[in-house]
Amino acid sequence: MTPACPTEKQSCEAPLAKDQFATDVLRGLAQSPKRIPSKYFYDARGSELFEQICEQPEYYLTRTELAILEQSAADIAKAIGPRALVVEYGSGAGIKTRLLLNALDQPVGYVPVEISQSALDASVENLSEEFPEVDMLPVSADFTQPVDLPTPHKVARRTVVFFPGSTLGNFEQREAIALLRTMATEMGRDGAALIGIDLKKDTKILEAAYNDGAGVTREFTLNLLVRINRELDGDFDLARFAHRARYNALAGRIETHIISRSEQVVRVGTHRFAFAEGEAMLVEYSCKYSPQDFAAMAAKAGLRVVCSWSDLREWFAMQMLERIHN
Ligand code: AVJ
Repeated sequence: MTPACPTEKQSCEAPLAKDQFATDVLRGLAQSPKRIPSKYFYDARGSELFEQICEQPEYYLTRTELAILEQSAADIAKAIGPRALVVEYGSGAGIKTRLLLNALDQPVGYVPVEISQSALDASVENLSEEFPEVDMLPVSADFTQPVDLPTPHKVARRTVVFFPGSTLGNFEQREAIALLRTMATEMGRDGAALIGIDLKKDTKILEAAYNDGAGVTREFTLNLLVRINRELDGDFDLARFAHRARYNALAGRIETHIISRSEQVVRVGTHRFAFAEGEAMLVEYSCKYSPQDFAAMAAKAGLRVVCSWSDLREWFAMQMLERIHN
């Protein structure tokens, strides 16, 4: 049954999103091996836990990226030039965006592209006071699909797609290339992209970042089951599942799985799914790149690296891309 669509955009959005969540979870649990897309980590509690992960001593990514942005802000602004329209994929807590907008020369607009209306509202509300000269133009959409970008009042010299946080790393290679292609289209001929990527490094450091001592990442991972229980009427018993994050050096990625600690049957709505003891359900990839890996991937999407900024240890990098062919 299709629910009648109310006139309010926001109330229309929720049931559709829930349908998609149900579809993806039921499909993923029926697959062998089982898998659930990592984008479903971010309900209210999941977003809160992610913020806490960023503060853990082992999780160096956020801290390092912020340091790069702080140190290289002037350089980055120079490479981008004046009157940019900044399009951000996903809208974070706004700290990185603030650093970028602050450094840029007369940015004309800020376009966060994000599915969650509440996250969009929050990011724009915080920024509009601080940057009265910048048009705030939120777009409620899935950034993996091409979107029609709004036009700012002042003419933009170029469009810059900002995609920090190594979120690109959560996509498999094929999807990441597709997403880079979407960016290339969106940015237009004279555009650019500014992408944060986590770099390859010692396995111990990588694995520690996804297995923090305080257990916040474990809770973040297992919160996916809490969400399924609540939103899709599931009966996952959290005590019977474990979090596991390991670095697959060959594939160059952290692979996070939820492991069944015993043989068991779980119900989701009217569906039942059997788990073997030790069975692993894939819930996240976090890809790590060498600068060469990343450049090769970008090239497959018609983009080339024009500038790159890193920290002294070279643990993380902010890469600036432009189109190869205009
Ligand atoms: C910032 C979304 C890319 O993969 O490092 C953190 C998500 N997962 N700890 C990452 C995450 C487990 C994070 N992203």
